[in-house]
Amino acid sequence: MVSAADLFSLKGNTAIVTGGTSGIGRCVANYLASAGAGVAIVARHGDAARQAAEEVAAEYGVKTVGIGCDVTDEASVTAMVDTVSGAIGIADVLFNNAGINIPETALDVSYADWKRILDVNLNGAFLTARTFARKLISEKKPGSVINVASISASIIVQPQSQAAYNASKAAVVHLTKSLAIEWVKYGIRVNVVSPGYVWTEMNQIVDKKITEVWMRSTPFGRFATPDEMAGGVLYFASKASSYATGSELLIDGGITCL
Ligand SMILES: NC(=O)c1ccc[n+]([C@@H]2O[C@H](COP(=O)([O-])OP(=O)(O)OC[C@H]3O[C@@H](n4cnc5c(N)ncnc54)[C@H](O)[C@@H]3O)[C@@H](O)[C@H]2O)c1
Repeated sequence: MVSAADLFSLKGNTAIVTGGTSGIGRCVANYLASAGAGVAIVARHGDAARQAAEEVAAEYGVKTVGIGCDVTDEASVTAMVDTVSGAIGIADVLFNNAGINIPETALDVSYADWKRILDVNLNGAFLTARTFARKLISEKKPGSVINVASISASIIVQPQSQAAYNASKAAVVHLTKSLAIEWVKYGIRVNVVSPGYVWTEMNQIVDKKITEVWMRSTPFGRFATPDEMAGGVLYFASKASSYATGSELLIDGGITCL
């Protein structure tokens, strides 16, 4: 038996965090570093990514790198994975967290917005996971992908309409299971965390009348903090989940029970 600290330790691991300069990604980057992993902070804006990477290195004393990358751009994702390898080592943990929402009804959403949401949330997650996995497979190394879906993969949250987001996140859950099965022979595990309502910038700008409806429908009656997502990510990133692949972990204050 190993100690609980060893079970969750990421010493010797290198983690990529997409969407790593804000919200859940920025918070989880701290926890990955605090568990001992080197951390690559990836965001659309390189300056913000480098700034966040410097903060994590100063706070936790691990190797970090900040990289500008648009997850919908294949060349950008390929360059990002290569840069991580050269700067802090081959990444064996991917927190595939970048995502957007543009709540609009199915009847009104422009086709451009529909495609943009699918492009970031589904295509970006796929491209990043595949590029990460190809690198690991070429190096014959095991690894762990942690995708980010949502309660919106399982239920239709109210009162806003957001068919594109809901469809993209449901697809991320099924993509997770598909990749888990394809990559099991390479020792690459693929799992997904599905948060409920989390108090991040994404939600801090939402009308109070809407967030009140959300809180009335959440058994816990409050938002999660970004920190409350970290335990699930550490579980999937570490040896603690060595037998888990294709799993979805809902961290949602009970809302999907209803
Ligand atoms: N906050 C919630 O209540 C909640 C609930 C369920 C799921 N989620 C999911 O959690 C993840 C993180 O969300 P958050 O709440 O921290 O919001 P956030 O807006 O703070 O984080 C999303 C990050 O993704 C980045 N991003 C967007 N498009 C990108 C692109 N093309 N390339 C690279 N990076 C890009 C953004 O810059 C941002 O840093 C998202 O996938 C979101 O859908 C959030």
